Amino acid sequence: MNLLKSVLIIALFSTTVRAEPPKPVNITVYRSPSCSCCGKWLDHLKANNFNVKDIMTEDVLAIKQKSGVSDNLASCHTALVDHYVIEGHVPANDIMKLLKSKPKVIGLAVPGMVNGSPGMEMGEHKNAYEVVSFDKDQKTAVFSSYAESNN
Ligand code: CU
Ligand code: CU
Repeated sequence: MNLLKSVLIIALFSTTVRAEPPKPVNITVYRSPSCSCCGKWLDHLKANNFNVKDIMTEDVLAIKQKSGVSDNLASCHTALVDHYVIEGHVPANDIMKLLKSKPKVIGLAVPGMVNGSPGMEMGEHKNAYEVVSFDKDQKTAVFSSYAESNN
C-alpha cells in the first residue's frame, strides 16, 4: 500500500514537472528600414517569447490607416497579433494581457516615441507613459500605466 502511494506521488510530480513551455506568440511587425528603435522593440518581443515576422516597408502609414490607427495614436511601427493591432512601443506583457482578456477593441497603442518604453531606453531615466486601447470609433481608454523611474 505504501509503495503504491509513493508511486502515485512520483507520478503526480513528474506530470507537473513536465509542463510544456508556453507556445511562442506569432506577431507580424511592419516597420521602416530606417528606424532603429523598431529593431530594439523586436528584440524585446523575441526576449518575451514572441515569434516575430518582420516586414520592412517604406509605407508604414498605409498599414496604420488600413488598421484603424488614427494620427494621434501613431508611433513608428505597427504590428498585428491575432486580430489585434499593436501600435508603437507597447510592452510585451501588455500584449499578453490583451490576448488573455480579449477586450472588444482594435488594439493597443503607445502614441509617439516615449523615452523608457521597451526599445526606447536611453540611459537610466524613464518617462511615465500610458498604454491605451482604442476602438473603431477612435475611443481610447487607459490599458496600463507606467510610472516615471530613474533606474
Ligand atoms: Cu520607435
Ligand atoms: Cu518602431
